[in-house]
Amino acid sequence: MENQSIIKKKLPSFVEARLNSFLRDMTEPYENRRPLPVSRRPGEGAVIMQSNDYLSLSLDKNIQKAHLDAIAASNENVVMSAVFLQDADHKPDFENRLATFMGMDGCVLSQSGWAANIGLLQTICEPNTRVYIDFFAHMSLWEGARIAGAQIIPFIHNSVSNLKRQIKKHGPGIILVDSVYSTIGTVAPLRAIYEVAQAFDCALVVDESHSLGTHGPDGSGLINEMEVRDQVDFVTTSLAKAFAYRAGAVLGPKSLITALPFVSFPAIFSSTILPQEVARLDATLDVIRTGDAKRRRLFEISDVLRTGLQEIGFTIRSESQIISLECGDEQNTEHVRDFLESNGVFGAVFCAPATAKNKAIIRFSLSAEMTSREVDHVLAVCQAAYENPSLSFY
Ligand SMILES: Cc1ncc(COP(=O)(O)O)c(C=O)c1O
Repeated sequence: MENQSIIKKKLPSFVEARLNSFLRDMTEPYENRRPLPVSRRPGEGAVIMQSNDYLSLSLDKNIQKAHLDAIAASNENVVMSAVFLQDADHKPDFENRLATFMGMDGCVLSQSGWAANIGLLQTICEPNTRVYIDFFAHMSLWEGARIAGAQIIPFIHNSVSNLKRQIKKHGPGIILVDSVYSTIGTVAPLRAIYEVAQAFDCALVVDESHSLGTHGPDGSGLINEMEVRDQVDFVTTSLAKAFAYRAGAVLGPKSLITALPFVSFPAIFSSTILPQEVARLDATLDVIRTGDAKRRRLFEISDVLRTGLQEIGFTIRSESQIISLECGDEQNTEHVRDFLESNGVFGAVFCAPATAKNKAIIRFSLSAEMTSREVDHVLAVCQAAYENPSLSFY
């Protein structure tokens, strides 16, 4: 069977044409004929800042052991949708633990941060609900609002006055923001946004994906750091950043938590995360709670890199552990990427659809285990890139 010859099937021409146009657009503009986000293979000693494992937990031995022990002890077959598992015997204790940690009423786990946002918006939006969304909010919030049929009204990134103007014009709705923005690392002014929500009778959703574990007391998130948790209606998060696994969560009032598993399509029509995965997340929370030293280190090196880049002359809008070089058009970005990579510095290239066209960025995601020597190396290579007359920065 393994050596069977595979007959090349002919696709209908309209499908073939569509796929070919993607392949052309992805490769033809670039010198190496490969999609822009694909890096070369990093050599020995390269500094790689592409992972969102901010506290360097993905290889933590205690967490891995908890995961493996749970796999070994597993005696239950729950390979099914979580819609069948909403009873006291099956609801993971971890959901309540995470809710208490973040200071929210309740929690439903999901398979990913993507599924959390799609499922939440599907549950809380009617068709034509007004949704006010920050221009830089994560694509899963945009997609959730789109799939729900909501009336999407974008507002200027982090502009409370523009948000207020839009709400005055269109009426009450649901405000969607990230806590820390995944592209350029800016931080949402949550208190001012909450005050607008309160004044205009709007609900507020905060996506804590890039701040849970890194910000707030014991890593409990930006809503706790900014002391607005009692004012935020709904929180979502990916657990594939500081939690370094692959899952997500929606947090909010008990009514939401009870309804969502029976309304959200990702919750109903996609299989649940497994008990051994929840055991891993539970062990990860123990490590995160006691991770002040790692958080301090993460912010210390983020400050050094951010200030160093600003002193060189880069426009750095970051206020967090996500620090991006704004490279403009895709051709220039390819050249900057190649320059950095050939000097052992690997960031993540973000271009359309993750950014607007001609507004590509190279994102550095820092992690607590990065050494000062690595940070110095990144600064030295960025300085050389900045001074290279064939490269541009915006
Ligand atoms: C702000 C934000 N929300 C949601 C997600 C989706 O999370 P996940 O990767 O767990 O699907 C991401 C991940 O890229 C993100 O950056």
